[in-house]
Amino acid sequence: MTSKIMTIERHIIEKQKDFPQATGALTALLYDMALAAKIIARETTRAGLADILGATDSTNVYGERQQKLDVFADEVIFRMNDHSQRFCAMASEEHEDIIEIPPRYGGGKYVLLFDPLDGSSNIDVNVSIGTIFSVHRKITTGNQGVMIDMLQPGKSLVAAGYVIYGSSTMMVYSTGQGVDGFTLDPSLGEFLLSHPDIRVPEKPLFYSANQGYQKYWSPGMRRYTDWLQGLDADDHESLSHRYIGSMISDVHRNLLQGGVYYYPHDAHKPNGKIRLMLEAQALAFIVEQAGGYASDGIGSILDLQPHDLHQRVPFFIGNRELVEKAEQFIRDHDQDWSAQYGRYREQTFADA
Ligand code: F6P
Repeated sequence: MTSKIMTIERHIIEKQKDFPQATGALTALLYDMALAAKIIARETTRAGLADILGATDSTNVYGERQQKLDVFADEVIFRMNDHSQRFCAMASEEHEDIIEIPPRYGGGKYVLLFDPLDGSSNIDVNVSIGTIFSVHRKITTGNQGVMIDMLQPGKSLVAAGYVIYGSSTMMVYSTGQGVDGFTLDPSLGEFLLSHPDIRVPEKPLFYSANQGYQKYWSPGMRRYTDWLQGLDADDHESLSHRYIGSMISDVHRNLLQGGVYYYPHDAHKPNGKIRLMLEAQALAFIVEQAGGYASDGIGSILDLQPHDLHQRVPFFIGNRELVEKAEQFIRDHDQDWSAQYGRYREQTFADA
């Protein structure tokens, strides 16, 4: 029985064997991310105790705690990776600019981008949250990484993954050869391969979007949602609606059970909400590796040339036909928006 147990470490090493030219740097950094995930998981599972543990403190420890967990996760990931000499720079949702690597540890050939704790407002109510990360290869020649190294399209990614801290902790990652998922066995402190070669199921079950914003949505988005609900015609079934409001949780469920997550453009957020570099690229890479598709409503997220580290995008991700249907509704009904967003989309780093 034990011979069937595949730890994440063993799996990463096995995968490296497919690349005889690999130096092991990518292998090691994935393992470091798994370790960071374990440390963050240990803290997030204790988050509900913050009230009790903070009861002797006169400050609002509960509110503080939530903020602290964001910062804690951010620091754990930075510290786990700053001295490994695998990276030349990092970027995090928590920081406006590039995070520099101390010069004595610089010179690495990769850049790491991450959202340390996505959906962190859900910590208060014990809903699953997650970490998102992605890795680009450095393309400039200096010792330190610069913005150009960060602002690469998703199709250039070397690896991407996410960790979901839910009823169990799972790490899902891809190095461009399919997608595998690992579940943390808390008694062993090990991630074990639980979901090999994840594929988006052919038959989708769910659509996930915040319909509370529907009154701000464009005609295309309203019609698309009617279509998902089967309201437009009787020739297709309706999908179930599930929206957690923690994107990793919604995307993860739809990855395993089929469906679409969308956070579209609306009257208040004409360029959408989701961050291209720190959230969308990584998830798009993973879902496409699993046979799905991700778009900003105009075209593939992975083809999009970024112009800003904190650039936002409308985001549609899941089963290919559902995402392409959104693109079709936008083409047919949201021409004005497309023209306006198109100008933002085509901006270059120099313009931004
Ligand atoms: O990334 C931002 C995020 O927290 C996602 O995880 C989530 O899906 C979304 O925002 C929730 O936003 P809203 O509360 O506007 O639906």
